Amino acid sequence: MKLRQVPLQCVSLVASIGMAVAAPSVEQLQKVAEAAHAKFKDLDEGKNADYIPALAEVPSELFGIAIVTNNGDVIKVGDTDAVYSIQSCSKVFTMCLVMNESGANSVLTKINVEPTGEAFNSVRAIEEGDGRADNPFVNAGAIATVSMIKAKDAEERWQKIIDTYEAFAGSKLTVLPDIYKSEAETNFRNRGIAHILYNSGNLFCDPLEATEVYTKQCSVGVNTEQLAVMGGTLANGGVNPVTKKRCLPEEMVPQVLAVMTMNGFYDGSGQWAWKAGLPAKTGVGGGIVAVVPGEMAIVGFSPPLDEYGNSIRAQKAIEYISQELGVSIFED
Ligand code: DON
Repeated sequence: MKLRQVPLQCVSLVASIGMAVAAPSVEQLQKVAEAAHAKFKDLDEGKNADYIPALAEVPSELFGIAIVTNNGDVIKVGDTDAVYSIQSCSKVFTMCLVMNESGANSVLTKINVEPTGEAFNSVRAIEEGDGRADNPFVNAGAIATVSMIKAKDAEERWQKIIDTYEAFAGSKLTVLPDIYKSEAETNFRNRGIAHILYNSGNLFCDPLEATEVYTKQCSVGVNTEQLAVMGGTLANGGVNPVTKKRCLPEEMVPQVLAVMTMNGFYDGSGQWAWKAGLPAKTGVGGGIVAVVPGEMAIVGFSPPLDEYGNSIRAQKAIEYISQELGVSIFED
């Protein structure tokens, strides 16, 4: 039986007079998160990303789960203090920055929001389309998003990004220098993608500046609680549930969640929707942030990845929690 359907203390009475079923309590969330951690901590599948050499060095056994509710309650299990690179989870929040600055339609028209059915770093997807980057979560679209930030130079572009991430996280964040160095020394494919976009008029600042700032944003360090507060801000209609500060206009949140639903797992997004039914975004650092709109964010972190570049333990844990709570957005 799913938690949302479990008779909590007065649920039958509440239901009989036609009121909404109560949200799960903090104790229930703690229990389900602990059960997910116990179930998947020994799962030994997948491997760390190694195309960014420093990511291969992160201990593969790390595994943390955090839930942040719209009330600001924080539920944590496992290695939730470990700091790891945010990687592609960052793409959501840079998109929010651009939507804030230039309106939601700027993303739709200049990048588009369509799934590619291709890997996150695909060049073919850009070549086969109309020249635009397809969506803000593949590398092409994320670099294009960075290029859309209104800034006179790389420094201002970067400052706007880190200020945005800190507002969503409600805490100070810094770049992980070893990850940044390792990725900056090896990001030739992303530099190529940026030049292809620039050549067709679909990248809006110097391509090397855009790639450089994008690489830096991917190297921002977060722990699982911080990433959950960032997701929780989207669950809470754009208001940080801990600091209570507004980070995004409420009317833009459904559009952000739509892009997460369609593209958050790249060419694995359909399977994710089928199993977990939640808007989410993954990163090759091992983090996954999932949003239960109006209720909470659920974050999993563990470095070993599947063939699409998505953390295996984090996926399994969030799927399990979503199913146990009955919170898929596709369920009644
Ligand atoms: O550009 C890259 O390849 C990385 N900085 C980010 C890729 C990533 O996280 C893909 N997501 N699962």
